[in-house]
Amino acid sequence: AGPCDIYSSGGTPCVAAHGTTRALYSAYNGPLYQVKRGSDGSTTDISPVSAGGVANAAAQDSFCASTTCLITVIYDQSGRGNHLTQAPGGAFKGPEANGNDDLASAIGAPISLNGKKAYGVFVSPGTGYRNDAVSGTAIGDAAEGMYAVLDGTHYNDACCFDYGNAETDNTDTGNGHMEAIYYGNNTIWGKGAGNGPWFMADLENGLFSGQSPSLNNGDPSISYRFVTTALKGKANQWALRGANAASGSLSTYYSGVRPDGGYSPMKKEGAIILGIGGDNSNGAQGTFYEGVMTTGYPSDSTESSVQADIVAAKYATTSLNTAALSVNSKISLRATTSGYTTRYIAHTGATVNTQVVSSSSATSLRQQASWTVRTGLGNSGCYSFESVDTPGSYIRHYNFQLQLNANDNTKAFKEDATFCSQTGLNGQGNTIRSWSYPTRFFRHYTNVGYIASNGGVHDFDATGSFNDDVSFVIGDSFA
Ligand code: AHR
Ligand code: AHR
Ligand code: AHR
Repeated sequence: AGPCDIYSSGGTPCVAAHGTTRALYSAYNGPLYQVKRGSDGSTTDISPVSAGGVANAAAQDSFCASTTCLITVIYDQSGRGNHLTQAPGGAFKGPEANGNDDLASAIGAPISLNGKKAYGVFVSPGTGYRNDAVSGTAIGDAAEGMYAVLDGTHYNDACCFDYGNAETDNTDTGNGHMEAIYYGNNTIWGKGAGNGPWFMADLENGLFSGQSPSLNNGDPSISYRFVTTALKGKANQWALRGANAASGSLSTYYSGVRPDGGYSPMKKEGAIILGIGGDNSNGAQGTFYEGVMTTGYPSDSTESSVQADIVAAKYATTSLNTAALSVNSKISLRATTSGYTTRYIAHTGATVNTQVVSSSSATSLRQQASWTVRTGLGNSGCYSFESVDTPGSYIRHYNFQLQLNANDNTKAFKEDATFCSQTGLNGQGNTIRSWSYPTRFFRHYTNVGYIASNGGVHDFDATGSFNDDVSFVIGDSFA
């Protein structure tokens, strides 16, 4: 049985079931998600390899070969049509045209389930999905449950990486108008024990770890790579339960009455959000693999059976790279765009650019175009590029432009300086993907370095010569 079969048996059936990694009913063999590719704008649906099974990642890899892909739809497997699509702007606007949020890369969150590759939804700041026209989700003070499996190591302190019930008009309509899973280390409203990250409940105008608006020491900091977060609520009662999604059972972090201040009765509106707050606050990051919403308040034992099913699915890590680099090697990166093939990624002070370099260039220029590959500062599965002439300084992105800056040891710097490596999109060399914004790749544009997406609001996101501009031949360093 899948998670939604278990909830049905418990009398609290799923009214929304989202998973890019697997089917959540044992009989489900319909589409899990839709991807759209950059080369021609066409879309395809990705389904499980067999009923109840793992997503067919090979179908995605084949459809997206030699181009970029975005996740455009996360289908609802419950049959109610509660699909998630690109979130529209709300009180806060998204970065895309018309104030829409970004869509997630289809390749930012590779994992394996029982040894079979699948992809999660990697939410960078600015990314969000939503459905404001839902069917069957809890309204007002009605009872509901939900769970999500997330990457416990991908988070930040911005508002708000959420999955669950929110406003239908994309604005903050007041306390109690949301009931959603939150994950991260935001401390504006409340927190749990230690330094975070925490699983909390976003009940609108507050992230709650318990009854008290500020602190619940029963809500632990999470360090699991894969985390199960289970939230449920009914009249003046709610609970937060969590677990390692790869082993063991759920612990109850809070179970009790609602917070004071307008949260009982609840005024739930029933829209569904992923990766954003109720008012489209979109500064947060996180990774979603699967999750559902139910009607009715699931029993603890039903949730325990769901956790056992998640553990049996065997979430595990897999390589973030399809074309590995050699850590501690010293390299050069040569442009492959016709007319620019004598240029290499280099730096002039803090600016990262391309310059014409050869073995007979001055020592200083040869050094400026030489990089030491290091283990990724923000994720050890990827890489960072340390300057040969300025040790301790690394290529990082800032406002999507590449810069050479000293490592200040902050989480933000380390993540900005972490890049994964894949086969060159134009068939030559390697394409270097931002770990934290996996829709974006090292690109030279007017001979300056950016992390660029294949189409987007910036000049440097232009689709013309994109594959060539993001493909670099890795060679020995000049110095
Ligand atoms: O409750 C926290 C956040 O506050 C909500 O997600 C958002 O709508 C509001 O800004
Ligand atoms: O480059 C995008 C973002 O811009 C970086 O993550 C951040 O450091 C800066 O605000
Ligand atoms: O970086 C050089 C060129 O500038 C790129 O190939 C092109 O996309 C841009 O006009």
